[in-house]
Amino acid sequence: MDQNNQYLMALDQGTTSSRAIIFDKKGQPVATAQKDFEQLFPQSGWVEHDPREIWTSQASVATEAITRANISAHQLAGIGITNQRETTILWDRNSGEPIFNAIVWQDRRTAAFCNSLKEKGYSEMVRDKTGLIIDAYFSGTKIKWILDHVEGARARAEKGEICFGTVDSWLVWKMTGGKAHITDITNASRTMIFNIHEKAWDEELLELLDIPRAILPVVKSSSEVYGTTSGDLLSARIPIAGIAGDQQAALFGQLCTEPGMAKTTYGTGCFLVMNTGEKPVKSNNQLLTTIAWQIGDQVQYALEGSVFIGGAAIQWLRDGISVVNDARDSEKMANSLSDNGGVYFVPALTGLGAPYWDQDARGSFFGITRGTSRAHLVRAGLEAIAYQVYDVLKAMEKDAGEATKEMRVDGGATANDFLMQFQADLTQCAIKRPEIIETTALGAAYLAGLAVGYWKDLDEIRTLWKADESFTPKKDNVAMEKNLKYWHRAVKRTLNWLT
Ligand code: G3P
Repeated sequence: MDQNNQYLMALDQGTTSSRAIIFDKKGQPVATAQKDFEQLFPQSGWVEHDPREIWTSQASVATEAITRANISAHQLAGIGITNQRETTILWDRNSGEPIFNAIVWQDRRTAAFCNSLKEKGYSEMVRDKTGLIIDAYFSGTKIKWILDHVEGARARAEKGEICFGTVDSWLVWKMTGGKAHITDITNASRTMIFNIHEKAWDEELLELLDIPRAILPVVKSSSEVYGTTSGDLLSARIPIAGIAGDQQAALFGQLCTEPGMAKTTYGTGCFLVMNTGEKPVKSNNQLLTTIAWQIGDQVQYALEGSVFIGGAAIQWLRDGISVVNDARDSEKMANSLSDNGGVYFVPALTGLGAPYWDQDARGSFFGITRGTSRAHLVRAGLEAIAYQVYDVLKAMEKDAGEATKEMRVDGGATANDFLMQFQADLTQCAIKRPEIIETTALGAAYLAGLAVGYWKDLDEIRTLWKADESFTPKKDNVAMEKNLKYWHRAVKRTLNWLT
């Protein structure tokens, strides 16, 4: 088929919504469909999704995007998948039915167990093998929790009757009608049971967490044909040809393909990721070492600073306490004030990630007076996103040994010019927003496109990235010092809240 008549579809299964985006040869989005799905909070600190809803929402947006693009499924050269990472699903190998809800990356139920692992002195070993800091964030302890708490699960798992997967595995399983039980290496690198140097599941860690090997998916590269859609979905057999966890996909979509290039995605959380090339770099500043992608035999590594609550701060201000009606109003509300009025918000709603890694921190507002208005609370929410990214960027600069001059950004919240300008002022570096801010989906499409020959090579793809707008610092960092002083004071007061 003439390639100009062909497209690529990216499935972006995020924390709060499932999206499908169809891209053309120029990397331009042709059609998008999106569906939010239910967030389940069965107990304080617990976050779950229904895996069936993850699948049905994803399948329905895939069909909708094709209709919107006014094309037939046969015109899709391939499908790329990108997904919320770490979220853990266990299902029955025979029936394909989940045995428990998906335990979401934000879920804190295994925090006490993680603390006990730290107390027993496992931090270095875990760090050396996986590049990760022991935390409830990662999949390993979530798998253990399900095996420990669902009746009969462990015995069935040992007999090979149960499959574990992150969301990519689950989607591929469903899309191939149960033919493929695989994951890609970027998702594997977020499980805390995968050795990022040996590029294999790690026996010692599996033993430590009491996880039977029989449940694990086969680990694949980020760009290859893993299988084809079963025909129930989309009425055509389309190659599923690229997978990367959403932050790695965004790094690729931003074309941060050279060591030292970094991006921040402002999604539910905020994730600053820097390409470190073919060698894993160990952080001395509380960042994670992770796999950026594997294409062919070549593995690229990255340093990552993961902030748990980014855009979710505004979402909570909207849905949790109704101080803003529409997230888009937050920019206007923040700009209606000349400054933050001394109000600070530490959105440690699910503990704090990098660089603090405190599972026991909880969210707090500080500096509230009788003059505090809704606008102050909203502005504090936006500023908090930028302060957290600042903290991670400083840690990254210490590891890299140099100041960052430019940061590429993407994700929904980057549409907020107040936030972007505030971020530039705070970090004193140029913030570059690309023309297409859907870089997560684009990254997955690129990975799939490379595997099926839709794009020839990286050089062809590199020509497609275009900056839309740069935000350069308008205030000097002296002006920001007072804010940072109060922000760090506020963070300090939320640390170890639960202990
Ligand atoms: O590590 C969690 C991350 O992958 C979730 O991303 O975009 O759904 O907030 P997002």
